Amino acid sequence: MLAPLAGWSDKVFRLICREFGASLCFTEMVSAEGVVRDNLATRHLLESDREDRPLGIQLFGSDPGVLAAAAKKVVELAPDVIDLNFGCPVKKVVRQGSGAALLQDIDRMVGIVRAVKDAVTLPVWVKIRSGWNEDVSLDVCQRLEEAGVDGITVHPRLQAMHFKGAADWSVIKKVKKAVRVPVIGNGDVGDWRDAKRMFDETGCDAVMIGRAARGNPWIFAQSREHLEYGTMPGDIPADERIDICTQHLNMAAEQFGERKAVKLMRKHISHYLKGLPLISELRAQLLLLEKKSDVAKKLEEYKNILGEKTTSAANTGDNHDRISSWAGE
Ligand SMILES: Cc1cc2nc3c(=O)[nH]c(=O)nc-3n(C[C@H](O)[C@H](O)[C@H](O)COP(=O)(O)O)c2cc1C
Repeated sequence: MLAPLAGWSDKVFRLICREFGASLCFTEMVSAEGVVRDNLATRHLLESDREDRPLGIQLFGSDPGVLAAAAKKVVELAPDVIDLNFGCPVKKVVRQGSGAALLQDIDRMVGIVRAVKDAVTLPVWVKIRSGWNEDVSLDVCQRLEEAGVDGITVHPRLQAMHFKGAADWSVIKKVKKAVRVPVIGNGDVGDWRDAKRMFDETGCDAVMIGRAARGNPWIFAQSREHLEYGTMPGDIPADERIDICTQHLNMAAEQFGERKAVKLMRKHISHYLKGLPLISELRAQLLLLEKKSDVAKKLEEYKNILGEKTTSAANTGDNHDRISSWAGE
């Protein structure tokens, strides 16, 4: 599954991850207040289409009534799952009593789940961290299960850890043993080996991947291949990475318009091309470009240069001069 990732897991990125075998994909967290007030920016975050399925819409908020009203409203968009964010550690969110702040108020969490379950017939899932400053996952999950929750994603870090320290997968294992609803493991899956290891070590029902999917939708195909056939997938060739990156750019331009897409794609491109030669030079050049066709051309040139580098490196040694002059060094 593709994790909800604010600023990343939009419709276009979800479609690309699906192409590579991601099953359930999630919208980024969307404000329940924004949904109820029909805020325009919120509406954009909820854009989807029929191919973008199965889909989980993730809501955040702190008021059971508002979350229930928002859930009722997003049912019109026909998602497959409504997911409640009980884990976001960001100050702006926890200050309003939402996200991970709710891990300090289990009664309120239970109230939210009950209210949302009463409002809709769709499956209602939650995504939690292990706790605020101590692990309360077992208590939380058992109480949420009693309240009728249909699935639980566990990102086993405390709020205070943000993204520091390792995710403690033993928490996922403990939760899986304690509840009957599906448990989705999340946290620090960096490649297909980790995906397999998470299934083996925790017994979770599904693995959710966040950061490692950025610029690397192949992680879903590779994990599936390994799980189903035991294959040991290798590195993705540079030209394929650039081709999918260009496809992503084209789809983003169609969805968001050229201006927004070119800006949005800068961070995606950095991830797609991570580790390739002269990526920082390419990044600097892309910052100056505003037209989609120019970005696509630059990517194609870069691909050709890399191709020449590989061929000439194989024949005669390195080809750094040619690349350097292309990069304007
Ligand atoms: C840039 C970014 C945005 C995120 N946005 C959300 C979000 O909107 N909702 C949510 O539940 N978690 C969010 N997360 C947390 C991820 O869904 C996931 O739980 C976390 O990154 C751990 O998984 P990973 O190690 O596979 O990345 C975000 C994480 C990052 C890095």
